[in-house]
Amino acid sequence: MSQTHCLSPVELITEQINDLPLLPNVVHHLLMLMGKENRSVQEVVNLVETDVILTSKVLKVANSAAFSRGQVITSLHRAIVHLGEKMVVGIALGSCSPRIFSQPLEGYESAVGELWDHSLRTAIATREIIRYILHPVSADLAFTAGLLHDVGKAVLSEFLKGNGEYMASCCDSGEVENFLTIERRLSGTDHAEVGCAIARHWNLPEPLCSVIRDHHHPALAPQMDRELVYAVHVADLAAMLGGTGTGIDTLAYKLDSSFDQHLKLEQKELDQLLLAVEEEYGSKKASIFACIEE
Ligand SMILES: [Fe+2]
Ligand SMILES: [Fe+2]
Repeated sequence: MSQTHCLSPVELITEQINDLPLLPNVVHHLLMLMGKENRSVQEVVNLVETDVILTSKVLKVANSAAFSRGQVITSLHRAIVHLGEKMVVGIALGSCSPRIFSQPLEGYESAVGELWDHSLRTAIATREIIRYILHPVSADLAFTAGLLHDVGKAVLSEFLKGNGEYMASCCDSGEVENFLTIERRLSGTDHAEVGCAIARHWNLPEPLCSVIRDHHHPALAPQMDRELVYAVHVADLAAMLGGTGTGIDTLAYKLDSSFDQHLKLEQKELDQLLLAVEEEYGSKKASIFACIEE
């Protein structure tokens, strides 16, 4: 660490990723479980109950006004069935991930909570969009992929600080294809590449690594993960269009127009789906945030 002044930005970023705390065991195992096709709710219950804080947060969200429908839920098993396993992953990531969702992204001129907000909205949209892909993917894996797609911004943000004016002028002039180009000019890498390195540092399942690395260039994703990556790609842009971005880079990305070759989704269906996402997001966001931010 004493020689950090000699390191290039990419080397410094790599060092930060290597210094990043590993995910808490319970979160890591939950993410691994989401990638498994034949898991049972009981396996999720067994995992969550090993963590007292997570257990109390899950029960609290399940009993919040937006989720409870007037019933009092005291059993963790019932709470998880009621919320859905993916929501449990969301609560676990939001409340237990070190330095990821709980900090402002100053380099992106983004306030505390905006990355989490954008990620949650993208996750809900991804879970809906994967109903239209040709080869089924677990809804829980899709939700998790949406939550984590921009994880690289949490580390890269630091290396973009102080360049707001330059970044804004590049975006306004339209001289760059997308924001990744600006990130590369300033740091030698981009949030997709950094995110993939974080995913590898955390030993996340391969489809999550593909989503994080390729979500702005879905055509480059490995064939077996490509449909999921397209789903996150569309969901990400939909979240930004819906007003939930992560600061200065919001809408500085292009939609890959070949998405309709991978998703059997007509524009009209997409519009309806996004409306449903809006309603769900609007009604549940406050409850999840309240419990996570405590
Ligand atoms: Fe992104
Ligand atoms: Fe995003």
